[in-house]
Amino acid sequence: MTNQSLHKPIRKAVFPVAGLGTRFLPATKAIPKEMLPIIDRPLIQYAVDEAREAGIEQFIFVTGRGKVALVEHFDTAFELEATMNERGKSLAPLAETRIQPGNLLTVRQQVPLGLGHAIWCARAIVGDDPFAVILPDELMVGKTGCLRQLVDAYDKVGGNIISALEVSHDEVSSYGVIAPGEREGALTKVTGLVEKPKRDEAPSNLIVSGRYILQPEVMHILGVQEAGAGGEIQLTDAMARMIGKQPFNAVTFDGRRYDCGSKLGFVEATIALALERPDMANDVRALLDKFSN
Ligand code: G1P
Repeated sequence: MTNQSLHKPIRKAVFPVAGLGTRFLPATKAIPKEMLPIIDRPLIQYAVDEAREAGIEQFIFVTGRGKVALVEHFDTAFELEATMNERGKSLAPLAETRIQPGNLLTVRQQVPLGLGHAIWCARAIVGDDPFAVILPDELMVGKTGCLRQLVDAYDKVGGNIISALEVSHDEVSSYGVIAPGEREGALTKVTGLVEKPKRDEAPSNLIVSGRYILQPEVMHILGVQEAGAGGEIQLTDAMARMIGKQPFNAVTFDGRRYDCGSKLGFVEATIALALERPDMANDVRALLDKFSN
């Protein structure tokens, strides 16, 4: 249980959501890519719900221009609620979106200098607390949520924890890659990290999969960090510099991951989640059968 842990609890999560979403144009011309829905919930809501399950209380969105809808989504919608009330419609789908007053905070990234820079933009709100990072593009579905799995490990070993999963060797160049050390169950010691290495230079096929628990010192490193892979300030490079100074582990995620930053991954996630929904599963299966004949 979190409250029995010797380690400072994780209550803050940073969501880097300033990206332009160019891969989904023109859908993302006027709405943030994180507002694209998987069935009836926008991607950002899956990420926020995963954070809530892990005990997160403060939600920090690193946003940019044109991202106001993300904040609106978690606000009260007075007129909508009043109208639905009048019509006797259930408010449940709206109630589940709301974040407590004062607990959704936003900072602007202003210039797209990379993931590391985005996280650094949240430094004043993070302060001296350990914090989580969730990349909403990576949709992680498990019986226990991915961040919850990380927090459970953190409660035991503290320090820095990242989520990991194996991909084929041909895919490693698209990710942060882990040099793995000793393994114990789902926990692997991290002895090195490289952002987007060439296939032949990758230390393994174990990749960083978009969930992090980090100690606040990473902010100091990010503040003086030079550009790395792709000319961007990389979170992976800053984390690599903490290895050896602080405990650093990876948790192999027990669940399924959908890369919703790609169109195919998005379609896959939509089908997979629809098949898990009791209100739709049978109809969706029938629909898929129709296409497979
Ligand atoms: C980012 C991180 C990378 C991580 C990936 C997971 O890369 O920099 O280390 O493996 O997310 O999706 P991006 O997808 O922004 O290029």
